[in-house]
Amino acid sequence: MSYRICCIGAGYVGGPSMIVMADSCPGLQIHVVDHDKQRIDSWNNLIAKDLPIYEPGLDEIHKRVLGKSLFFSTDVELYIKNADMVFITVNTPTKINGHGAGEAADLTNIELAARTIAEFVKGTTIVVERSTIPVRTADVLKRIFRKNSSENIHILSNPEFMAQGSAVQDLISPDRVLIGGDDQRAIDELAGIYQHWVPSERILRTNLWSAELAKLTANAFLAQRISSVNTIAALCESSGAHIDEVAQAIGADRRIGHHFLRAGPGFGGSCFRKDILNLVYLSHYFGLPDVAYYWRSVLTINDWTRARITELIINKLFSTLQGKKIVILGFTFKPHTNDIRESPAIYICQDLLDEGAMLSIHDPMATIESIHQALSWQSPSSVTFNQDLMSSFREADAAVLLTEWPIYLKLDWKLLSSYMRSPAWFFDTRNVLNRAELENYGLNLWSIGFGGIH
Ligand code: UDX
Repeated sequence: MSYRICCIGAGYVGGPSMIVMADSCPGLQIHVVDHDKQRIDSWNNLIAKDLPIYEPGLDEIHKRVLGKSLFFSTDVELYIKNADMVFITVNTPTKINGHGAGEAADLTNIELAARTIAEFVKGTTIVVERSTIPVRTADVLKRIFRKNSSENIHILSNPEFMAQGSAVQDLISPDRVLIGGDDQRAIDELAGIYQHWVPSERILRTNLWSAELAKLTANAFLAQRISSVNTIAALCESSGAHIDEVAQAIGADRRIGHHFLRAGPGFGGSCFRKDILNLVYLSHYFGLPDVAYYWRSVLTINDWTRARITELIINKLFSTLQGKKIVILGFTFKPHTNDIRESPAIYICQDLLDEGAMLSIHDPMATIESIHQALSWQSPSSVTFNQDLMSSFREADAAVLLTEWPIYLKLDWKLLSSYMRSPAWFFDTRNVLNRAELENYGLNLWSIGFGGIH
């Protein structure tokens, strides 16, 4: 009989992880289970646009494996019962209420998954944590299994490192696969699956706690680089330096490297903030307040980065935004996704609205409903969504580029400059617009980290 895998949670982590695994290991039988029938129905659909998530390349692989080595079902109990290995890929949001609110991860879904596994699991089974979880969550699982199941259950930690937009590539060709555990045979069993498509030297074996902590630390380090470069961008503006030149110069040092050195309006997305908060909570929990303070400051700088952009806009527009029309270019937290979670655009737009601005928001992929939900402005007439991008510039005083979607790089500058009120400002928070081109048509340009002429 073929090796049977059950994956609890058919979301952003479970879906792509199992699709790529099923494609590389046709001998496996993988069942992804979720109580959300609508989501399962969507995964069982062969029409790419109806899949629950969009990731470049995912639909083709999904089509190839569905019904062969990969199946989606709401029958959680049955497939846990049949499994040799169970992945947990449920989501772990930050706690909203109670002890640790605003910092600690809410483990309700993990606990629920663990209790369901304990109830239905049969025979020796490996349980793999793949969701991002606080360090020592495996302890929680162990205790639940010990008290509620007499089966032989081994726990592994195998965190994912996928970025949105490149999730398929990150899974097919990972920098590393991390497997933490205390049972060598269980580790070998999971490593054996990955070896079908990942070179052995990229499969790292650690103890449980190292694997759990490494996941949080990787995201915290990436976020920390962004906060660092954003502080230097402000220094560039004051000192006459240019952030792209500084980033180029420091990135050339191989010990530093070029990645994650782009200044911007602050990091967004579902992971960075949540994982750092998690690290802060853990540090407090383990009696390390200075460590907590250090990591918290990465978030403090992120908040400051967003706030300073709003302040700057107010300053340039003669200290008042009352009744002024501002075009917002991009709302997602990065291009090529429709995800607006923790997007800097939410905070910056909210602040601009509080100052009395009228916003015309454009984004190629974010839905109007999601933006509506994210912005809790008082007067609906102060926000419009203009799908016809060029006409949104009519009578506008300024435009703020918040997400570096490629279409914003080649606008008809001549036409839009004739639409805007003078003096018209462009605020380029991603440092991607061509200064000569804009200035040629009399547009004022502020670019992040560009010192000397503001
Ligand atoms: C991130 C991690 O990269 C990934 O490994 C982890 O598993 C999940 O979190 P993601 O949130 O999809 O992935 O986006 P990422 O591409 O890392 O960008 C995060 C944010 O940082 C975006 O808002 C982006 O605009 C910003 N960013 C990124 C910068 O401001 N500058 C940079 O140089 C890089």
